[in-house]
Amino acid sequence: MKTAARAAGLGTTIFTEMSALALQTAAINLGQGFPDTDGPPEVIEAAVAALRGAHNQYAPLPGVPPLREAVLEHQRSYYDLEPEDLLITFGATEAIAASLLGVCDPGDEVVVLEPYYDSYAACISFAGAERRPVTLAPPDFALREEALRAAIGPRTRVLLLNSPHNPTGRVLTRPELELIAGVCVEHDLICISDEVYEHLVFDDARHMPPATLPGMAGRTLTISSVGKTFSFTGWKIGWCSGPTELVAATRAIKQYLTFAGGTPLQYAAAAALSLPRSAIETLRDDLGQRRDQLCAGLDAAGLQPLVPAGTYFVNADVGQDAVEFCASLPERCGVVAIPMAAFYDDKAAASTFVRFAFCKRAEVIAEAAQRLASLA
Ligand SMILES: Cc1ncc(COP(=O)(O)O)c(C=O)c1O
Repeated sequence: MKTAARAAGLGTTIFTEMSALALQTAAINLGQGFPDTDGPPEVIEAAVAALRGAHNQYAPLPGVPPLREAVLEHQRSYYDLEPEDLLITFGATEAIAASLLGVCDPGDEVVVLEPYYDSYAACISFAGAERRPVTLAPPDFALREEALRAAIGPRTRVLLLNSPHNPTGRVLTRPELELIAGVCVEHDLICISDEVYEHLVFDDARHMPPATLPGMAGRTLTISSVGKTFSFTGWKIGWCSGPTELVAATRAIKQYLTFAGGTPLQYAAAAALSLPRSAIETLRDDLGQRRDQLCAGLDAAGLQPLVPAGTYFVNADVGQDAVEFCASLPERCGVVAIPMAAFYDDKAAASTFVRFAFCKRAEVIAEAAQRLASLA
């Protein structure tokens, strides 16, 4: 039966492939970025209360009022941001898809930092737009001004950003963000900023939303969700906020994708965002310890880790072709990881680097480290 080239071109994601391999070989899955413990129990209780409290019908398209208020308060209290409008979405993933479909016409160009989260490429192509990658290369994965400027042309409409950045674990610095802001203003670009790891930053790194930089609030759509921050990746409750026109265009598309979903979980997400700051800090600090634990394990295994400033992920140089290394790793030592090449158009840019997720229980990381030690 004939199906669309659009679908055939997408294939199966590396995460699905590697998770299947993990199951098949009973390997420890450090491939996909999801925690193996639930988030705060009081948030789960809020979900149960919402389910029992008759919050089971369609939510309003813009989202339930308590969550809208909680997100606005979050933007205000953490970043001093007062967005003109806000939309609750089915995870950050839907906000990314709907915003790209809402702002790009066929033939427009979207500049994106590579390596990039895999849904970006798919959604850019659904919009009929072209992606223009700017390569961040190991070991520092820094943004270079010449590379950014070279990617921008007359058809560039959007700069699609992600910081804290999956898969590198980098948190863009103020000078990098100022460079981005300057380029957006100079070329009159829309910035779509995916900040799902906004609270998962370690040591002295600080997350700074691009919308807080001069000239950016009026051109930036800020996207986030509860999944990563609160360890509820299966809930898919996200949001985007920013100028009226950008949110309106995103909402116009979203109403015909899913309309609105997850009503009881929207109420629970409001409860999560209303927890004291210390709750987020505890989750972050705990994650930071597991980052250190996995980095030490990788080091002991002779795989050189690049200690990340944020996210769920650490990259290591395995000193050989990373695609082959990852394909044989489950058999060799019972661990699954993802080759960085999966996130790049330029397959040679980080061909010996492998991404490992550390959002797992300490005992799971200890076991993974022990298995990896057999490589040393
Ligand atoms: C950079 C990035 N953006 C978005 C998402 C998806 O967010 P959500 O689960 O809220 O749809 C992920 C999940 O891995 C991610 O890494």
